[in-house]
Amino acid sequence: MEIFESCYRFQDHTLIKASGLYPYFRTLDGSEGPTVSVDGQRKIMMGSNNYLGLTHHPEVLRAAHEAIDRYGTSCTGSRLLNGNLDLHETLEGELARHVGKPSALVFASGFLANLGAVSQLCASQDCAVFSARDNHASLIEGTRAGKGRVVIYDGLDDLERRLSEHPRWENALVVTDAVFSMTGRVADLRRLTHLRRRFGFRAYIDDAHGIGVLGKHGAGSAAAAGVSGDIDLIFGTFSKALASMGGFVAGESAVIDYLRHKARTLIFSAALTPSATAAALAALRVMQSDQTLFDRLWDNVAFFKRGIEDIGFFTMGSTTPIIPLFIGSESLAFRACKQALDDGVFTTPVVYPAVPLGQALIRTSIMPTHQKPHLEQALDVFDKIARQLPIPKGVRADSLPQAEKMDLSYL
Ligand SMILES: Cc1ncc(COP(=O)(O)O)c(C=O)c1O
Repeated sequence: MEIFESCYRFQDHTLIKASGLYPYFRTLDGSEGPTVSVDGQRKIMMGSNNYLGLTHHPEVLRAAHEAIDRYGTSCTGSRLLNGNLDLHETLEGELARHVGKPSALVFASGFLANLGAVSQLCASQDCAVFSARDNHASLIEGTRAGKGRVVIYDGLDDLERRLSEHPRWENALVVTDAVFSMTGRVADLRRLTHLRRRFGFRAYIDDAHGIGVLGKHGAGSAAAAGVSGDIDLIFGTFSKALASMGGFVAGESAVIDYLRHKARTLIFSAALTPSATAAALAALRVMQSDQTLFDRLWDNVAFFKRGIEDIGFFTMGSTTPIIPLFIGSESLAFRACKQALDDGVFTTPVVYPAVPLGQALIRTSIMPTHQKPHLEQALDVFDKIARQLPIPKGVRADSLPQAEKMDLSYL
């Protein structure tokens, strides 16, 4: 086959574009945080990961500007060689303390952190990695790039059943999102740590959507569940609550030091820029010192969730600022998002393969910087959508199509 054949044949997006419902790569020409500008028109941003609204916080902006003045715009090289800044090391120390681990390692993106860490930890053919079915793509790529046996499990009952094949699993790493990014569902970390004690595996959680959201001062999902000591490695990103770019893995010092010297995505990629590092550090400090951010966040979450459920939307059991609106059909999700945008609300559709086929949803997320009028306007828009489009109402979690029946080949 000609090497570009699949590119030339690629048609997936043309039908959606032809229908005028294409929802991807929308161009923003401005942002104030809770509102953005699309084609010069103001829209309420209900589809970001800016969980604490810190992207426009004065201290975060100031830190980013000062870092550019002091270090320039780029590190122009890997941390291993010429790009290691005192800022990276300060951030690592404060992150480690924040999540309750001895050490942390900062990468240039969360994707690179998961990919580099998981693949390196599972670099031997003798190891096994158990990966949750709904894990983020960066974890999936990490398991694929490793050399160990990969087992995909669907929920903790399934994990337990698979682990029960052997009494002990010292050669195994279990990797799971702590908060599933599309549905906002929180993994049962207490049960995971019971299994860890019983079977002896190592546990790696992706807390991209938990750091800065759950636990005291946003210490994360493991802290919120009281199990930080029983989770071996905690991953976080700066691209969500920490209002920047980059990611980190935290854990025991020997493991972090090993990754510092071995993770290929760290040593063969340029260091996180000075401004991104300084912004994440400033955001971390703001988050640790300003409890009102969390008060406003959870107040807004409760307000919006109550309103959206009153309209009849099924929010899939989310207990986080990610509030999914279950739609079901893919095309209906595209139509609903387009109508929301036309009416002034920016959201994103989530369709297969990010969720099982037929379980499309609209992913909304809430920030402390949303004002009540923003949320009220968004609720009015979704109320209109629910009346005009055949949105399923009163769906129950146990009536959703079973994941086992789905095509999981994309994993
Ligand atoms: C669960 C999860 N893990 C990892 C990542 C990757 O993070 P980053 O945006 O820093 O590359 C994301 C971001 O989309 C995510 O949602």
